[in-house]
Amino acid sequence: MLEEWKKRWLEDRIGWHEEQGNASLKTHWTPPDKTSSVLVPFCGKAKDLLWLASLGHRVIGIEISEIAAMAFFNENDLIFKEKLYKNIKLFEAEDIAISIYCDDYFNCNLPKADALYDRGSLVVVHPEKRFNYVQHTKSLLHKDAYRFIITLEYEEGFVQGPPYSITPGEMLAYWSDLIQIESYNDIENSSPKFKKSGLNEVLETIWVSHSKI
Ligand SMILES: C[S@@+](CC[C@H](N)C(=O)[O-])C[C@H]1O[C@@H](n2cnc3c(N)ncnc32)[C@H](O)[C@@H]1O
Repeated sequence: MLEEWKKRWLEDRIGWHEEQGNASLKTHWTPPDKTSSVLVPFCGKAKDLLWLASLGHRVIGIEISEIAAMAFFNENDLIFKEKLYKNIKLFEAEDIAISIYCDDYFNCNLPKADALYDRGSLVVVHPEKRFNYVQHTKSLLHKDAYRFIITLEYEEGFVQGPPYSITPGEMLAYWSDLIQIESYNDIENSSPKFKKSGLNEVLETIWVSHSKI
């Protein structure tokens, strides 16, 4: 699967990328004041990294594709350096606190972060690896870390993931303190395979913890 992701970047098949960043993040991101570092697994070249850093957060992205990481810095006119951290290639901006580690997320052991921003990450992990993903993510976060996670839910049997459907029950089994802050039918913005499949509904849900609301 990692090779398939790298191939997608090579061929520029990145339909998930949001040129304006994620609207729900901008509306609902309300971490506790002390929040400094934010972990962004499977970050791609998301504009959200820039938005989070503009709030003063130290942003730590993890992404398998070096093409994605370099595109992020180049497309946003950021000067960056290439470094090594425990044998992991790392791209770090000079003037803003954004680092992207280039490796398989499951291999990355980094210092614990204060918060999690998860879009297009948990949902693309194969259901058989989901438990591992959650355990690994927990190991990279402080115990009381703020979490912001976007999931999808759709009827089985119409399309093959990724992205995969996740039920609210499964989410709460992983993190019992999460709250659904918004949920809407996003079929119009989903990839062509969803629209063509005959599905009427792809439910996108925003989950947060420690919300100030
Ligand atoms: C659906 S995209 C989402 C990208 C980004 N979060 C966004 O919202 O634009 C999933 C990303 O995860 C990366 N990826 C997939 N598996 C990975 C892994 N095991 N470790 C690190 N990155 C991975 C892919 O290369 C791809 O850029």
